[in-house]
Amino acid sequence: METVLSGIRPTGNLHLGNYYGALVNFIKMQEENNCFFFIADWHSLTTHPDPKMLHENVRNVLSEYLAAGLDPDKATIYLQSDVKEIAELYLLLNMHAYLGELAKTVSFKEKARQNPHNVNAGLLTYPVLQAADILIHKALKVPVGKDQEQHLEMTRNYAKRFNSKYGVDFFPEPTAYNFGSELIKIPGLDGSGKMGKSEGNCIYLHDDAKTIEKKVKKALTDQGPTEPNQVKPDYIENLFTILRVVSKPEVVAYFEEKWNTCGIRYGDLKKQLAEDIIAVTTPIRERIINIRSDNECLRKVITEGAGKARESASKTIKDVREIMGFKAF
Ligand code: TYM
Repeated sequence: METVLSGIRPTGNLHLGNYYGALVNFIKMQEENNCFFFIADWHSLTTHPDPKMLHENVRNVLSEYLAAGLDPDKATIYLQSDVKEIAELYLLLNMHAYLGELAKTVSFKEKARQNPHNVNAGLLTYPVLQAADILIHKALKVPVGKDQEQHLEMTRNYAKRFNSKYGVDFFPEPTAYNFGSELIKIPGLDGSGKMGKSEGNCIYLHDDAKTIEKKVKKALTDQGPTEPNQVKPDYIENLFTILRVVSKPEVVAYFEEKWNTCGIRYGDLKKQLAEDIIAVTTPIRERIINIRSDNECLRKVITEGAGKARESASKTIKDVREIMGFKAF
């Protein structure tokens, strides 16, 4: 039994990237492990969301988590801001996080470029808070998408640095985890690299069938291959990447063969792709509608989750204080 942890920022609804990057793997693990799944509401503040939307967004992702299959009887589901011990560990880890390495982080450079008027200290130290999220429960496995690989590498560095600085073997070194070994990146349908909330190219778990059909129909394509076994351009490879996660292997093989023999009809490919996405999302969408309006259930999940998460976090922070030399009078 291992400690597994994953999380998401409440900055919008859950999309296929979140589902296949983090949730599916986590859901499989909750059966047999000590699992924590949390909503990173402090992290979402780095981009200054509208205060009126914060609670709504938290409610949405919580409902969507539960609808997607997170089980509060098996996993501890909680809100980051309910566990103040994380903030304390963040402060303490910050003393060993250096400006040079933080400023080189890919996610920091990207956000700073997108938003040059809001390069705040929270953004710079985002990976330290993420390390605190993970280390506070001494998690070993962290199911996440490919975009989080660097943050996990930094978490390992902070764990190693703490252990070596204080001469202890206290924090384990967590790894980004996927059952299929390679971390996943679900691409956008617009030919861009990644499906993402800020990229505006998402298929959401709550999208209805018509919306999904429309979005898939609009995906970028071309005249089709002109030679057998041609290398696919990125925007076509993207459609196949999504097909590989939502469809049966024989369906993927069929379209690969059609591509390789220049017989592919994009209309057929898109129809199949939409159908298979809809088959995955429809039962989730139906559950979202019910759970979202069940305030009593959401309140119970988040209150019990906070209690369990704090119990685990307070043990770690007590030991950390002792290791670092804090003593009671
Ligand atoms: P966030 O909120 O951007 O995304 C949540 C999870 O979804 C994954 N993901 C994707 N995976 C594959 N393809 C995509 N297109 C795609 N888009 C998103 C992300 O990799 C992530 O697993 N920093 C984190 C939140 C966080 C966290 C943590 C995660 C804070 N503390 C501790 C794990 C452990 C983030 O911004 O994820």
